[in-house]
Amino acid sequence: MSNTATLEVNGQKHEFPLVKGTEDEVAIDVKTLRSATGGIITIDPGYKNTGSCESGITFLDGEKGILRYRGYSIEELAEKADFLEVAYLLIFGELPTKEQHDKFHADIKSKSVVDDDVRKIVDAFPKSAHPMGVLSSLTSALTAFNPSSVNVDSEEDMYNSVVKILGKFPVLVAWTLRKKNGLPLDYGDNSLGYVENVLKMMFKQPNEEYVQNKVIVDALDKLLILHADHEQNCSTSTVRIVGSSHAGLFASLSAGISALWGPLHGGANQAVLEMLEAIREDGGDTKKYMAKAKDKNDPFRLMGFGHRVYKNFDPRAKIIKVAADEVLADLGVEDPILDIAKGLEKEALEDPYFVDRKLYPNVDFYSGIIYRAMGIPTDMFTVMFALGRLPGWIAQWREMRLRKEPIGRPRQLYIGETHRAFKPISKR
Ligand code: SDX
Repeated sequence: MSNTATLEVNGQKHEFPLVKGTEDEVAIDVKTLRSATGGIITIDPGYKNTGSCESGITFLDGEKGILRYRGYSIEELAEKADFLEVAYLLIFGELPTKEQHDKFHADIKSKSVVDDDVRKIVDAFPKSAHPMGVLSSLTSALTAFNPSSVNVDSEEDMYNSVVKILGKFPVLVAWTLRKKNGLPLDYGDNSLGYVENVLKMMFKQPNEEYVQNKVIVDALDKLLILHADHEQNCSTSTVRIVGSSHAGLFASLSAGISALWGPLHGGANQAVLEMLEAIREDGGDTKKYMAKAKDKNDPFRLMGFGHRVYKNFDPRAKIIKVAADEVLADLGVEDPILDIAKGLEKEALEDPYFVDRKLYPNVDFYSGIIYRAMGIPTDMFTVMFALGRLPGWIAQWREMRLRKEPIGRPRQLYIGETHRAFKPISKR
């Protein structure tokens, strides 16, 4: 393979280096394009063909449906690792030894208390506030209570910022749910594992002991692993570009939470359940919704289907679909929504519209069914996605800072008015 690409424009040829990644992906390095061609740039709405960075964290192969974190397959990690191990792997690049794992968890626990004044911010929200808006606000507010987390020029400062947010974020997630449920805001229990502690903080009733359910603990641990990172998706790219201005980690994460909220991205898991409920209320008429999804004049999309990168099955969706069956059976939950989802999937996978466009179920299609069986309200599903994605966002932000990436500032193609003279209002 040649190691350059040639671009001919206005009769002039320009050579640009080809760069190859460790999985044999190839990119044209256009860093010098504008200066070499006297101002010509590329344009690529949605960055469908544009790489924003080189990264060693997560590898996706959309055609083959492959997902690996730091070289480990998602299937192995979901089966054999726990969420904190995966968080350590994503952030620091290697699976932790027992000592490293225990120290990491101890450091996280030591920083997991959230300043009591943050409760006043939670109290100020109406119960009807969407949990993603609450979570994004509280995450940004953490900066005010942890000013040292902004200028993290040393790796030590960065580590302290990382363990602080890994300790405090689950508290914010729990407070967001407890606010909705009118329950007192309290703290977890440092004698518990990371995921057990999340569940206890979310669901403990003030007048009862909280009894852990291993089925739910294992299911949530697996779901968080499956959501932990996904290379340069919309919210991760947001975290990286906000962080590239050297805004602090918490402010960058708050921006990522807002990006994840959108129904085309992480908000899809909530939209999937709302869609499945609507189909159920409509007597299970999946054909009507399939027709709506295919109708160009109808903005309705089959939520939980399609993906920018996967043009094959999303490997996470496969794992979650099996887990949904297992968790509902273990919990003795009969949920007609699951049958509707399976029926919809079968129809879509046989329908030329979806087959031709390579639209398969994605991570959001089945996840909500498990969250629902766990007793998590629908508008909290994307908050659970954010909890899972937290270590990935942190890892990507840390990589961007350690690699000293330049501030993100894309160019544009101007298509507005050319120069014109000002007219006084009397003459308009
Ligand atoms: C996540 O990027 C990531 O990695 C994200 C994520 C992560 O882990 O971070 O994987 C998490 O966000 C998963 C995606 C969740 N979103 C949804 O489920 C919402 C429904 N899906 C779509 O809106 C859509 O598929 C996207 C947004 C996910 C991807 O859209 P693209 O890549 O921009 O594709 P497109 O909009 O150009 O669609 C191509 C064609 C179009 O039809 P034509 O114009 O060619 O005729 O496919 C159609 C679209 O209309 N299409 C759909 C569809 N998705 C695409 N038609 C009906 N239903 C759908 N769901």
